[in-house]
Amino acid sequence: MSSAAMKLAVVAALISAAAVGARACLDVGFYDTTCPTAETLIQQVVAAAFRNDSGVAPAMIRMHFHDCFVRGCDGSVLIDTVPGSTTRAEKDAAPNNPSLRFFDVIDRAKSAVEAACPGVVSCADVVAFMARDGVVLSGGLGYQVPAGRRDGRTSLEDDALNFLPPPTSTAADLVANFTAKNLTAEDMVVLSGAHTIGVSHCDSFTNRIYNFPNTTDGIDPSLSKAYAFLLKGICPPNSNQTFPTTTTFMDILTPTKFDNRYYVGLTNNLGLFQSDAALLTDAALKATVNSFVRSEATFRLKFARAMIKMGQIGVLSGTQGEIRLNCRVVNPVNVTATAADDHHLTSSSSSSSDEVAAS
Ligand code: HEM
Repeated sequence: MSSAAMKLAVVAALISAAAVGARACLDVGFYDTTCPTAETLIQQVVAAAFRNDSGVAPAMIRMHFHDCFVRGCDGSVLIDTVPGSTTRAEKDAAPNNPSLRFFDVIDRAKSAVEAACPGVVSCADVVAFMARDGVVLSGGLGYQVPAGRRDGRTSLEDDALNFLPPPTSTAADLVANFTAKNLTAEDMVVLSGAHTIGVSHCDSFTNRIYNFPNTTDGIDPSLSKAYAFLLKGICPPNSNQTFPTTTTFMDILTPTKFDNRYYVGLTNNLGLFQSDAALLTDAALKATVNSFVRSEATFRLKFARAMIKMGQIGVLSGTQGEIRLNCRVVNPVNVTATAADDHHLTSSSSSSSDEVAAS
């Protein structure tokens, strides 16, 4: 290697080291000594649930996204609203309820690791592993999940409303939303490719098929007419009230296969949400879409990388947060340890849980 090339290589190594250093301090194999069976136990639970209902895969991928975009990947999406509290938790916010599903499968995975190694594996990591397992079970590329996330103690409906992008988002909205989380426009396009599997409720897209503004037929012009008529059959007018649980696949070409057909559908006006169609409204985003239409291998690889990146958003590590024992409830407060910081809390677990929704 010439000395110039050598210098370049050293600089590149330093840049990548700096980039890694700037990221959260998570490690692949984090549980190798403390809970060596964790990833296997979790994978077994996801695989068993998947055999029963393949919808568990998209559900876990979306769960991880909705966890990471709200207060970082800290398992806050899993916390239940405290009974009697006036403040609701994230999972009860409109973008999450009723569409997030299979919380019971997460409980099962957490119970399995708690039985093997009590108090070691965080709920945030359980979700990150389950999302990866969902990608693999659906045919996507596997990747090693850096772990060591700690669980947060706060979950607020308003945070979910403020940070999760709605399906009516424009291209500019989406880029801004993802940039705020240190993800690039390309990351946004590749992560949207998760819509290659899974389902949507009618109310996420009926604005595009009934009374769409400035049209004669009420249909969003960026949506295929044939697809719009199909969707009208599935979601009649006012179906939000009459059929609130009706769902439809998002990628009608290959609805349960983790492939690049979502992008092929997009370029044929088969994107289900305005936010999907928006990816064609900007030249740079569209170029990325087209690159994934051309190469499924590129999509699969970049999706895996982007999931690892998304999984680093705002994580708690070291001694921050806690390892929640039950993913739905924050741990009871240890009065002695936390009295100085949390003087307004009392010792019972219910009052600490109250703090979750109210803080
Ligand atoms: C770019 C902005 C995004 C918007 C506006 C968006 C919006 C939505 C909406 C409205 C649904 C349907 C919810 C329902 O009505 O049931 C959905 C489903 C889904 N989303 Fe996204 N999403 C976005 C990005 C992502 C990302 C980054 C991921 C993961 C990496 C993701 C994964 C999924 C999955 C897998 C489903 C299906 C869930 C299931 O079947 O249970 N989405 N998304």
